[in-house]
Amino acid sequence: MASQKTLTSLTLVSALVLPLLVVARGGLGDRERPDPPPEGDVNQARQSGQPMLEEGRRIFRYDTFGSESWWGGTLRLHEAIEGERFGGVGDGVSPRTALAVGLKVDVDALPRRLQNQLRMGRVDLDDPAITLALLDLDAVVGVTAHRDTDGSLETIGLQCAFCHSTVDDSFAPGIGHRLDGWANRDLNVGAIVSLAPNLQPIADLLQVDVPTVKVVLASWGPGRYDAVLDKDGKAFRPDGGQAGTLIPPAFGLAGVNLHTWTGFGAVPYWNAYVAVTQMHGSGTFFDERLSDPEQYPVAARSGSWNTRGTPDLVTSKLAALHVYQLSIPAPKPAPGSFDAQAASRGKALFAGKANCASCHVPPLFTEPGDNLHAPADIGIDAFQADRSPTHAYRTAPLAGLWTHQTGGFYHDGRFATLGEVINHYDSFFHLALTDQEKRDLREYLLSL
Ligand code: HEC
Ligand code: HEC
Repeated sequence: MASQKTLTSLTLVSALVLPLLVVARGGLGDRERPDPPPEGDVNQARQSGQPMLEEGRRIFRYDTFGSESWWGGTLRLHEAIEGERFGGVGDGVSPRTALAVGLKVDVDALPRRLQNQLRMGRVDLDDPAITLALLDLDAVVGVTAHRDTDGSLETIGLQCAFCHSTVDDSFAPGIGHRLDGWANRDLNVGAIVSLAPNLQPIADLLQVDVPTVKVVLASWGPGRYDAVLDKDGKAFRPDGGQAGTLIPPAFGLAGVNLHTWTGFGAVPYWNAYVAVTQMHGSGTFFDERLSDPEQYPVAARSGSWNTRGTPDLVTSKLAALHVYQLSIPAPKPAPGSFDAQAASRGKALFAGKANCASCHVPPLFTEPGDNLHAPADIGIDAFQADRSPTHAYRTAPLAGLWTHQTGGFYHDGRFATLGEVINHYDSFFHLALTDQEKRDLREYLLSL
């Protein structure tokens, strides 16, 4: 009996002490750590990561996922772009018009000669033929067109970069180097789609007429798009306001749990959703939550919650696309673009008196864990939240906020300025911030 007891206590002692020893070893610093894993493991990850990142970038910028069959084949958008002169309809879209609706031109895709001619004002920006030439060069960010042998456009497709890239305007307004992941808040998606000669398929889906579709497309304005309309058919808020959401950035996403304003899912979820059901690429998207005829009458009717396009040109690209988006850092603001002293006071307020950091936890500026909130938590209405399976709003990550001030803040841009956002929190949470403190908080937000 006695020896058995000793044995038990020995086992107990070793069970308690051994892990402690291991912990202690780990805590002794680098010198005492066991040998690092062989470099091979890291190299292997690097070797597989780097090409994936580059492939993801190519997909993000140039892949249309076969969306030509929708934008060209069904809606015939290319015919409005080329105009009558090239076998299409109407006047065609001049470069000036294209820039005015927020399309961007990638200067790195323009041959030197064309750059020089542009600089000298020798390019007719009112001539749709120039738009076609720019499309030939793959210089219109997010749009790819294909020509027929007779010189007319055969079809057109869209890319992620259409909405989630802009340019740095280094050459001229709207013309410059690509900025992947930046939200294009100048882009008037509704106005562009509205040009399409055949909107009947959208009208049929929504069970309305074409003029009604046009009213809805015109309601969004620049920088907004409604990615849920084809699921729930809710074209306007109950108060009559537009129902689109602001295009968010697709940078600084690593470490963030749920994505989209209302937390539909993680990055690969949303990428499949958009590529298949919004861009109308050919591929697979499945989410049974969207088959609910109460919440999503249109999706339940159309079956778009379970789309099986063949060939599947999307699923095989989700991994690389994911890696690339997670790799794009949130860009830092230029040093002189905010008041650094005020920002450092604002930082203290953000974590202290204003309590912003309780939800916007630095450096992710969203909650590690479940980053969703009931509308009442932040003092706003439930309209957009209730269009999501989550019925919630996601704590918006704030890094790179300075890049997307056009169009306002919160999912629908309801607050035109950061000052208005801060005033909203000040009154909703009874923060009693002084004017100086509000200014300091604002400078801090601009420094992220
Ligand atoms: C027509 C414009 C448009 C296109 C094209 C588009 N998106 Fe988006 N994207 C949006 C809008 C609008 C939202 C916000 C949706 C919402 O929350 O209601 C969004 C949300 C996102 C988000 C969530 C960001 C965050 O902060 O959580 C990611 C990531 C994203 N898109 C990536 C992509 C990728 C990758 C593609 C290509 C497969 C793509 N998008 C194509 C408009 C677009
Ligand atoms: C209870 C959690 C919570 C607290 C506390 C909170 N926020 Fe937010 N914040 C959110 C959520 C959720 C959103 C997204 C709202 C939406 O999508 O409409 C948001 C959005 C924002 C936005 C808009 C981001 C964008 O891209 O448009 C800013 C700016 C912001 N918060 C700043 C602050 C500041 C400053 C404070 C402190 C005064 C603060 N927040 C406190 C949850 C919170």
